[in-house]
Order: sequence, then C-alpha cells, then structure tokens
Amino acid sequence: MAQIGYSKKVMEHFMNPRNVGVIDDADGYGKVGNPVCGDLMEIFIKVKDERIDDIKFRTFGCGSAIAVSSMVTEMAKGRPLDEAMKITRKDVADELDGLPPQKMHCSNLGADALHAAIQDYWVKTGKIKPDEIKKEDDGEGEACPA
Ligand code: FES
Repeated sequence: MAQIGYSKKVMEHFMNPRNVGVIDDADGYGKVGNPVCGDLMEIFIKVKDERIDDIKFRTFGCGSAIAVSSMVTEMAKGRPLDEAMKITRKDVADELDGLPPQKMHCSNLGADALHAAIQDYWVKTGKIKPDEIKKEDDGEGEACPA
C-alpha cells in the first residue's frame, strides 16, 4: 500500500488506534478544536495517586489526528500528571516518526486535549483556578490542505 508520506507508526496507529472511547465518570475532560481545520478532539482521564490511571479519546478529526491521539494516550497512560503535562505536540509527532509537513497541525490536537483534561482535573481539585488555565499556541498560520 502506498504510504503517501506517512510513517509506518502513523499508519499502524491509524489502522489500530489505542484507547478509543469515552469515560463516563472521568476525573478530567479536555475538548479542543483545531483552528486550522475545525476538527475536534476530546480526552477523558481517570486519576489515581496523581497519575493517569486510564485515558480515552474521541475525535472528529483526520487520520493523522487519530494516530496522534492514539499515540498521546499511550505516552500519557500511567504517567504522573506533572510529567504528562510536559508532553508537547512535537514529542507526539516525533514519537510517530514525524508527520508530513502539511499535516503537522494535526499533531496539535492530541497534546492540547491532554493538557486541557489535566488542567480540568486540577481546577476540580482546587490545585489551580480557572483563570490559571494555560492555553496553547493556536497554531494559526499553518495551511490545511483538507
Ligand atoms: Fe484536521 Fe488533521 S486534524 S485535518
């Protein structure tokens, strides 16, 4: 099958995504939209002993967004919240052995939704105030071919 510029890891996670679904009684919930293409991503986390005990995602995004989300959930699962908060968009893209340049904006959704879910948990538990939530750089200026 033609790879059309996608790495084997991207194709593998796209064909067989991990941690797809919803957690009804999630401790933290993040929802972000991609300003470049309008696609959406949701991440649900369960927290135990300040670690991500379980994580699921649901997306209305492209194949790259699915691969990115699958990868970011694998990278975050079991990690302390502080560490998971440091996973960057670039870390996720690197872990997938890269994305084609015109799809780099798709890597934003996964890390952004993860950070939003963690911060939602921190607001609920009083660690931070709602006005202390850090917003990500919105990635504007990158062209979307979709
Ligand atoms: Fe929208 Fe990839 S996330 S085109």
